[in-house]
Amino acid sequence: MKVLLFSDPGIDETVAILYALLHPFIEVVGIVTGYGNVTREQAIRNGRYLLTLTGNEDIPLIAGAEGPLTGETAPYYPAIHGPEGLGPINPPESISAEFVNFDEVFKIIDQFQDDLVIVTLGRLTDLAIAFLLGEKSLKEVKAFYIMGGAFLVPGNVTAVAEANFHGDPLAADIVMEKATNVYVIPLNVTTQALITPSIIQTVYKSQQNEFGKLLVEVFDYYMKAYKKLVPGINGAYFHDLLTVSALGNPSLLGYVERNVRVDHGTGLARGQSIADFRPKPELSSSEKREQIALQLDYQSFVYDFIRIMTGPVSS
Ligand code: BDR
Repeated sequence: MKVLLFSDPGIDETVAILYALLHPFIEVVGIVTGYGNVTREQAIRNGRYLLTLTGNEDIPLIAGAEGPLTGETAPYYPAIHGPEGLGPINPPESISAEFVNFDEVFKIIDQFQDDLVIVTLGRLTDLAIAFLLGEKSLKEVKAFYIMGGAFLVPGNVTAVAEANFHGDPLAADIVMEKATNVYVIPLNVTTQALITPSIIQTVYKSQQNEFGKLLVEVFDYYMKAYKKLVPGINGAYFHDLLTVSALGNPSLLGYVERNVRVDHGTGLARGQSIADFRPKPELSSSEKREQIALQLDYQSFVYDFIRIMTGPVSS
């Protein structure tokens, strides 16, 4: 499966990207790195570091946006992801911040068309820009997997909003309105995607190398941040990892089909994801619908994570 990733690494993006690069059936054909958990510049450096670490320097690293469509100054999240987005790790000085321009997105789409799956792990700004620039090309894409939203459950940055949708709610709503074959992976399931210290230790036993060390260090940092946020938690939620794992494992998540919109006003509901879950919503056959993940097979998620992450890595 050919996959174009949109991301803002970030600790859980990092683990999701590593998982995708290691997965035998996922071929990452490009990574767009924009602002989000960190600045755009840092996201590019972190993306380049991950590609170098895994011997994937030839995958195009595409520069995304510096801030949201709303024109606001983006907040970053060093308390959760670390000052540079990789917990305690600073990518070595030798890592370049080389990138290719955004038009590479369209080259990739034109090359792979309906073989291509797009996955977004951060703010939706870059994907919304792609829709605004070239909606026709994007119609060719096979499917979109989007980490974002919280349906009838608490948000993680406000009472009702999840970070990726809240960070650029206008972009999120544009994507929901324009994209077809969309799989939304919201907090409803990602807050069940708990990775614990013992899972990480199991992976580390098979990966006692630079890759394994990175995994342990970013995990420890992320877990400490989560312990301050969620009383009694023994691990951390890996939202983005779950989104990428859903690609190779269609039975991992149970979906409900509804039209999704995102509030992009400036009031209390900003960033809230909205779908009509009333028992008999009157959906017309022409109404656009998204697949919303509401159930997770946790055992399969953990088993799959260990299986993929203990696979070959160059030392
Ligand atoms: C999302 O926000 C970020 O903190 C994570 O990387 C994830 O993409 C979860 O709300």
